[in-house]
Amino acid sequence: MKQNLLRALGAFALCSAASVMPAQTAAPSDSFRFPPADLMNIGVYYYPEAWPASQWSRDMANIKKLGMEFVHMGEFAWAFMEPTEGNFDFAWLDKNIELAAAQGLKVVLCTPTPAPPIWLTEKHPEVLMIDAAGRTQVHGTRQHATWSSEVYRACVAKIVNELGRRYGQDKRVWGWQLDNELTHYGKEPDFSEPSQKKFQAWLQKKYGTIDALNRDWGNAFWSQMYQRFDQVRLPNEKEFVAQFNPHQMLDSQRWFAEETADYLRFQADILRKYCGHTQWITTNHIHNFSAVNPALNTHDFDVVSWTLYPVHGNANRGPLGFRLGDSATLTFAADFMRSLNGQAGIMELQPGQVNWGEVNPQPYPGAVHLWIMRAFAAGSKFVCTYRYRQPLSGAEMYHYGLVGPDGITPTTGGEQYAQAARELVQLRAAATPGAPLPPAYAARRTAILYSYEVRWDIDNHKQNKAWDTYEHLLKYHRALTRAGAPIDVITEDKDFSAYPFLIAPAYQLVDAPLVARWKTYVENGGHLILTCRTGQKDRRGHLWEGPWAAPILDLIGAKIKSYDTLPAPNVGHVSVGEQSHTWATWADLLEPSNGTTAIANYTDQLYAGGVAATTRQLGKGSVTYIGVDSQDGELEAQLVRGEFSRAGVTTENFPDGFAVAFRDGLWIATNFTANPMAAPIPAQAKILFGTATVPIAGVTVWR
Ligand code: GAL
Repeated sequence: MKQNLLRALGAFALCSAASVMPAQTAAPSDSFRFPPADLMNIGVYYYPEAWPASQWSRDMANIKKLGMEFVHMGEFAWAFMEPTEGNFDFAWLDKNIELAAAQGLKVVLCTPTPAPPIWLTEKHPEVLMIDAAGRTQVHGTRQHATWSSEVYRACVAKIVNELGRRYGQDKRVWGWQLDNELTHYGKEPDFSEPSQKKFQAWLQKKYGTIDALNRDWGNAFWSQMYQRFDQVRLPNEKEFVAQFNPHQMLDSQRWFAEETADYLRFQADILRKYCGHTQWITTNHIHNFSAVNPALNTHDFDVVSWTLYPVHGNANRGPLGFRLGDSATLTFAADFMRSLNGQAGIMELQPGQVNWGEVNPQPYPGAVHLWIMRAFAAGSKFVCTYRYRQPLSGAEMYHYGLVGPDGITPTTGGEQYAQAARELVQLRAAATPGAPLPPAYAARRTAILYSYEVRWDIDNHKQNKAWDTYEHLLKYHRALTRAGAPIDVITEDKDFSAYPFLIAPAYQLVDAPLVARWKTYVENGGHLILTCRTGQKDRRGHLWEGPWAAPILDLIGAKIKSYDTLPAPNVGHVSVGEQSHTWATWADLLEPSNGTTAIANYTDQLYAGGVAATTRQLGKGSVTYIGVDSQDGELEAQLVRGEFSRAGVTTENFPDGFAVAFRDGLWIATNFTANPMAAPIPAQAKILFGTATVPIAGVTVWR
């Protein structure tokens, strides 16, 4: 161990940066970096290092001609920035920044740290990650180093300092992307020794004593008792012959997410020394869900950004879903990322066919334009497409770009990008930046409460393998979009009182302060919907020593007598008024107290006539508990509409996949369904583009 430490210190000396120029500036208003009048900026990835220098100027001019407003460069280019240790070459990047600026394009730069050069891993093989099968990764791919290694971090510090020193005050540089989609591409976390050691230290800090860890992990079972922290390993399912310990797994997930957030903060802090807040900093988070929790870097980044690939052979909803993608999936992510710190953008958006899905079909004609405009409707500050040119070699050569293999001819995606860029100019002229939401729309404003920890915990111990936490959340997101509600997907630290409606779907881990906040929210007039699995466990993931879901029973005004799940092909039936719905994954059997009304009942199984959902008034608001997870989401849609109606709020009743949203004085309708849809355009409205009947993949904007 001592030897490792010495090696690490030696490497730090070798790789550590020289002086750091302190250039802290006060944070300017966000409008400085994202002018409200711009609404949304549009740009593209370009990898100059991969193309002959003779083509750079032509490419930059053509990027501009397509209507792009910024160009994203430097990602993965470590081997070109630092070809040999300590020798830097930025001439190629300087030239491209100059060419971009000459075209009036803003520049987004990247830290190249997901792609260590061969000299680095050859000299420091201890930075290589180890996968769940125990295999040390090798050069020839990307994201194969462990960011828990101090040796790696020292090398990262050196290149990031170099970039900051060179470009941190460069007015042509608009902002920064750190690293790339941090995860180890499905092999997460890494099981290298630096990770194991950091996990042990994290546990020691969290628990103080090994007795406390044994207690909270429930180790008085199967003789799982530990004697010292250094005996604990990161849980690796491949190393367990029987079930893993869910508390150990949850803690390892928390640790990995915190460790990754710490690594991003480490890079951001270095850049800030040079650029302060005159340039923005972000990373490109994975779309929707992974082992990395974007909420943990909320305060480190000026804008939260993420990557979006709606079509890659996935069996999405409806007959055309595999070509159109799913409106709810991408909007859920947008509503979450935007709600973290108020500013979000899409850093990578699919330009056409991709290469990495199991099947990679052509998107539907117009789908790329549809995604850009859906992102616009969801409040994006920018949309950047991955990538400008289709590569002629390498792992992604089947990946579309804005131009095809000849490097000049726009693809169908390229044409749709150009169309969106032209329309943006038109929208800017017609918009009222910051216009308040129209009252009928604002009255439906709903927050969905979302937690990565809750999702990890449920997924670690589902109780029914067919249960899908994400789909359960999406059922409520779809229900709200169909009702025409503006949605924020929020984390617990946010103020609930800003929303007339709050839904906490399957919010399994709770504590007394959270339940007290829910109660106050309702007493003050909020309408709260809790759904099955909510409140079953404490934050450690333990059941309560008391009635099932004890802390929420007073709030919902009901007891949860038991729950059921059904093996396929069985389904249960549940009625809401005249409508019948099917379920199979989860059904709570409720016993309402006096003053609580049943709003859904089981019509078969052992408990025919039993209560599946309840509602009650409390103070100035109401609490609804929906104990059943339907198969197709129609029950959720009906009950959410019922909730709005009891609260005296009008709703739309759109089909799933059709969405109408308001932004900056504009209404935007997007159609992801397999049928043309009539947009609810008032007689006095002016259509800016599109038609009153929105075709498949169509977009209509009016004001
Ligand atoms: C993303 C990744 C990019 C590129 C892209 C291809 O997930 O961040 O670097 O590989 O996929 O679609």
